[in-house]
Amino acid sequence: MEISVIGTGYVGLVTGVCFAELGNQVTCIDNDVKKISALKKMIIPIYEPGLEELVKNNVKKKRLKFNTSIKDGIKDSKVVFIAVGTPSRPNGEADLTYVENVARGIAKHLSGYKLIVEKSTVPVETGKWIEHTIKINNKKKVPFDVASNPEFLREGSAISDFMHPDRIVIGVQSKRAEGLLTELYRPLKAPIVVTDINSAELIKHASNSFLATKISFINAVSQVCELVGADISKVAEGMGMDKRIGRQFLDAGIGFGGSCFPKDVDAFIHLSEKSGYDFSLLREVRRVNERQKGYFVKLIEKKLWILKDKTIGILGLAFKPGTDDMRNAPAIDIIKMLQQEGARIKAFDPQAMEKAKEFLTEIKFCKDAYEVARDSDCLVILTDWNEFKEIDFKRIKKLIGQPIIFDGRNMYNRAAIEKLGFQYFCIGRK
Ligand code: UGA
Repeated sequence: MEISVIGTGYVGLVTGVCFAELGNQVTCIDNDVKKISALKKMIIPIYEPGLEELVKNNVKKKRLKFNTSIKDGIKDSKVVFIAVGTPSRPNGEADLTYVENVARGIAKHLSGYKLIVEKSTVPVETGKWIEHTIKINNKKKVPFDVASNPEFLREGSAISDFMHPDRIVIGVQSKRAEGLLTELYRPLKAPIVVTDINSAELIKHASNSFLATKISFINAVSQVCELVGADISKVAEGMGMDKRIGRQFLDAGIGFGGSCFPKDVDAFIHLSEKSGYDFSLLREVRRVNERQKGYFVKLIEKKLWILKDKTIGILGLAFKPGTDDMRNAPAIDIIKMLQQEGARIKAFDPQAMEKAKEFLTEIKFCKDAYEVARDSDCLVILTDWNEFKEIDFKRIKKLIGQPIIFDGRNMYNRAAIEKLGFQYFCIGRK
């Protein structure tokens, strides 16, 4: 099928490339000229495992093209996905300016029937507004359909999540639209939930907010564990074995970050409020998440005493492993709090150091964990990168100023670390 995807961020680019890999003819469109000319040279703007290889493969096989113009890019497409950004406004509401602009752009260049599919995470009723915007700008009255098809991929495992989804959600208002999307997704052999557009939009908000709630719940329980001397990893294990609960997203730590959960929880709170429902449960989810970072800084302060002029070695900056994304990374707030107390910061992240420079200043970026550890007063783990499991702590012990580890992601085995002569502090675990 000929399709196009407007917006080449994480969701747009991965969607376009994966549909090409499934054998479709795909044009990825973005108004960022620099980004598109880089992509034409096969320079990928984001770090996502496996993405570069898939881009190269599909460009070579002539299934994947890039364009800056909506007019040229959608000309031959039957299905047009909208995957542009929906940033937060200061009040938490999603800013849909880009979505509206794109809808207007599509309407002006409709030639034959097209199915316009919103893939960006958007508030309920955005589908209706896209339809309305296209209708009023579609002077030649070309037939079209609008659908909602939220994406559930995670950064860091985006390609495999796209190719092996738990479910595909399709919100449609015509059989024609349902047929096109079902055909497009058939090769994935995943269960498809077909519903109305509003319900599809809500499924995305509710899913992300529920996962965020799970994380805040376990983080709150981790605080109680600290107070009563219980072990959060055992509590999560015991809870998670109940199939109705499940073990995933029960890892306590320094809280959730990224471009999705914080923004989506805010947007869901806002849209519920606008519709007349006070979603106070979700406000508490956000509060628990914010507090978790403060507790961790307090723990460091309690154990190091005065932070002024101490050197704190940070391992991990990205909001989670497998990505270079720094948006809403807990590391940003935690490092700023430590700097405010007068601490000096040294840091290493396998992928995110370049992007971290946009969010943080006065940091000595290091080439590896050993350089971070040299003469530092402690090591602080903020992202659970797999490669941090391979660190030679015997070597670290010889380099570090004070052998103290604060593990914000509960990565290490306490007994093994303490045996090497370190003091070890983590989140709610014995
Ligand atoms: C999230 C959802 O998981 C995807 O399904 C969704 O498509 C995506 O948002 C989106 O809306 O686009 P993502 O933000 O890439 O994906 O990352 P997650 O793997 O969900 O992690 C989010 C945050 O939660 C990270 O900071 C992670 O460290 C934290 N987390 C996750 C925990 O603190 N504990 C856990 O047990 C799990």
